Amino acid sequence: MAARLATVRSSTRRQFAPEQAASPWWRDAVVYQVYLRSFADGNGDGIGDLAGLRARLPYLNWLGVDALWINPHYPSGGADGGYDISDYRAVDPEYGDVADLEALVEDARALGLKVLLDVVPNHTSDQHPWFQAALADPDSPEASRYHFAPASEEPPNNWRSLFGGPAWSRTPDGRWYLHLFAPEQPDLNWRDPAVAEDFERTLRFWLDRGVDGFRVDVAYGLFKDADLRNNPGEYSPTLFGHGPEQAMTWNQPEVHDVWRRWRAVCDEYPGTMLVGEVCLADPAEIALYSRPDEMHQAFSFRLLKSGWSAESFADGVRSALDAFGKVGAPVSWVLGNHDKDRQVTRFGGGEVGDARARAAALLKLALPGSAYIYAGDELGLPQADVPDAAKKDPIFHRSGGERSGRDGCRVPMPWNATPGVGFSPRGSAQPWLPIPADWRRYAVSRQARDDRSMLNLYRQALAVRAEHPALGSGEATVSRRGEVLTVRSTAEGRSVRCVINMGDHPVLVRTAGTLLLSSAPQVTHTSRRSLALPADTAVWIAED
Ligand code: GLC
Ligand code: CA
Repeated sequence: MAARLATVRSSTRRQFAPEQAASPWWRDAVVYQVYLRSFADGNGDGIGDLAGLRARLPYLNWLGVDALWINPHYPSGGADGGYDISDYRAVDPEYGDVADLEALVEDARALGLKVLLDVVPNHTSDQHPWFQAALADPDSPEASRYHFAPASEEPPNNWRSLFGGPAWSRTPDGRWYLHLFAPEQPDLNWRDPAVAEDFERTLRFWLDRGVDGFRVDVAYGLFKDADLRNNPGEYSPTLFGHGPEQAMTWNQPEVHDVWRRWRAVCDEYPGTMLVGEVCLADPAEIALYSRPDEMHQAFSFRLLKSGWSAESFADGVRSALDAFGKVGAPVSWVLGNHDKDRQVTRFGGGEVGDARARAAALLKLALPGSAYIYAGDELGLPQADVPDAAKKDPIFHRSGGERSGRDGCRVPMPWNATPGVGFSPRGSAQPWLPIPADWRRYAVSRQARDDRSMLNLYRQALAVRAEHPALGSGEATVSRRGEVLTVRSTAEGRSVRCVINMGDHPVLVRTAGTLLLSSAPQVTHTSRRSLALPADTAVWIAED
């Protein structure tokens, strides 16, 4: 196996045969999600920034990803990790300036990496000049760009904020305004054409600076029921997203026209793309957001929200392949992001969690479609125990500490084994979130030297994926026997099977092929035709 990997390492980019050149890059891209504030601090203030990220691009190239998505980089009120934007066509001075972003895009391009930005159209910051103007004058044109209701005893309806409490707060003059997230994130009124026009300007502003597309925040929001009627049911986060009980707030049919207009804008910039965050319970409803004239992709969050069981993973894979297949879009697989507990912890923590996260990574990277990797997941970072006093997440604060919040998956990256783990230059300010004392063991520099590390597993998997046509694209079939899940993909007449044992006991797997990669080092062929697959382990087997 070692020799085999040595040959693929030299070329991490997929070599397209001429007849495949028409397949757009994003259909099978591996996209690395950069949590900018926590990735790399260039200037020593303890906050990740564009200069730090730019200096680390060679790492992403070495790892072998195709693209990066950068969490919001805009000037912000700072109430929700940058998802409360006060100026959509600028860079927060904490992160640098527009010239830094242009330089980043240029360097990324030179390495063959695409760059996606995050765009947040459902709400602005309360610091945004529009909201400030609307507060100052109820009759201003800006006031009609939000949802205000006259002063009254009771809020206009029963809607709840996703971060806790009612979705309505009062202005200083007693009016109500709508915020489906924090009060510092007033929802925009997309029935006012000025809102749509301004966002199209924003898209063009960044596309003109060379970016390759956008991750679209809360893409299932934007429009609300025209009469703001009560929701039929209590907000109960169903396992996989919002359903009919919240029918008045989410997934209004009008929203699809926004994506058609944004798609038309992207079409003027060939090769650019949109990927939407669509947190709905029904995969078929999610897939509608990536119809051919709408967004290019919509995240599939099923595996992100599935427990460790072959049945729920099989269901997650099948339902996504079916739903997106019907609209002709690739599935965008997600196992981790900045909103969810880290995989290693979610899957049980410790050695078990680590083994499962390794196995899950191989499953994800074998599936046809694009794959998203959240920064730090390639290091196997666990959910960090952030002391309450240091927490920033409004979910923690608005729930009065009842919900632990998302800070634990947003802690800065450990780059080397020095005391500050190399996140900031030596002698810098403290990092914006405390880094656990023992995180040196996860450092990139350490793992890069260790063939058996999580980091090298990811790197090997990406190299093998880049070479094999049936990894990341093609037709897939899913089968399950007990706790063993098999995905067989075929492309260009070649097939790969990814077999994952999600049970407690080793199983014997019939192979009839070549073992390409295993998530656990101890996997070996027991005979020419079978191998023993330990618990919590996945393998890739090429059919000869
Ligand atoms: C999305 C983001 C999340 C943010 C929310 C409000 O769900 O991923 O981080 O808090 O939208 O913008
Ligand atoms: Ca900094």
